[in-house]
Amino acid sequence: MHSPLQNDTFLRACEREATPYTPIWLMRQAGRYLPEYRAARARAGDFLTLCTTPELACEVTLQPVDRFPLDAAILFSDILTIPYAMGLGLHFVEGEGPVFERPLRSRADIERLGIPDPETDLRFVGDTLRMIRRELGGRVPLIGFAGSPWTLACYMVEGKGSRDFVQIKGMLYSDPGLLHRLLGLLAEAVALYLNAQIAAGAQAIMIFDTWGGTLSTRAYEAFSLAYMRQVMAALHKEAEGRRVPVILFTKGGGGWLEAMADSGADVIGLDWTVELGIARQRIGDRVALQGNMDPIALYGQPDLIAQEAISILDGYGAGGGHIFNLGHGLTPQTPPEHVALLVDTVHQYRRS
Ligand code: CP3
Repeated sequence: MHSPLQNDTFLRACEREATPYTPIWLMRQAGRYLPEYRAARARAGDFLTLCTTPELACEVTLQPVDRFPLDAAILFSDILTIPYAMGLGLHFVEGEGPVFERPLRSRADIERLGIPDPETDLRFVGDTLRMIRRELGGRVPLIGFAGSPWTLACYMVEGKGSRDFVQIKGMLYSDPGLLHRLLGLLAEAVALYLNAQIAAGAQAIMIFDTWGGTLSTRAYEAFSLAYMRQVMAALHKEAEGRRVPVILFTKGGGGWLEAMADSGADVIGLDWTVELGIARQRIGDRVALQGNMDPIALYGQPDLIAQEAISILDGYGAGGGHIFNLGHGLTPQTPPEHVALLVDTVHQYRRS
């Protein structure tokens, strides 16, 4: 049914196999730094319409893959589709990010929540994935994704982004049982959603735990990692006769690499605070590593961008198991030519 995969370097690196060059894709590779993205978003009218209209989400997914020789495509969507489908009333406010009309503040708010049905409530995601697979025609693999239960809970309880997470940490330290109830429900919803993405054609899965790094070590284990483990244990990790690798990314998780490597993930995503060579010594015999250039380095001088990329590649060292990426998402002022230079530098590099 699907065209054969022409470039499987990304999937092979996820399996820690050697590849002729280091595969690269970039978090937020579709986004406001691309003029063609800004044009599509203007046509859509707003960000949520872009995410929920398969033709538009498919078009935007392919933009970076058409422009740069990236080794993977990532579904264009958002982690907040689950709370959106749960009816919390999501808006993206210019300059402020996501805002929920009805944040979760009481036990009753949480007890009312239902698990969204991926085939009906989140149908647009499956439709988008099927359309992208058709349009990609096997050029590169397609990554599906979701937020971690903890990271989703942060937005759902705070109602928007936060600096200190007073609301959700307040719940953690005053009514941990209630927070566990919410996280258990979200783990079920995320696993169901990701399995539907795999069924619709996602060939790898990434779990974004953007706010896990705000927790203490004990709280990270109990309130974030435990639920990601639960999600990963429930995933159908094979499709079309091939493994569907899972990438786990906890921003700020550098202190917990061993625990992350033992969680059931195939690949650990690293932010730029971790030295890749040291991470490899700690866990690189168990999992592949993805990362980890500071996205703001792309604002620099071209020769220094290339040097930075080479230091990261040298830092990993010889052998397979590295997927080049940034330590977090591309930001809106990044010059697209610098992205082209980065992709080219990584592709030209040969491990000795
Ligand atoms: O990587 C990709 O190209 C796929 C698309 C993608 C988006 N969001 C598109 C997006 C992915 C994987 C995400 C995940 C996501 N969304 C995360 C986890 C990753 C991370 O960045 O830590 C989080 C925390 C969110 C929630 C979210 N969505 C925020 C906080 C914002 C506002 C930030 C901003 O840049 O304004 C969004 C909006 C969003 N998601 C945009 C894009 C391209 C910008 C929307 C626009 O203004 O056009």
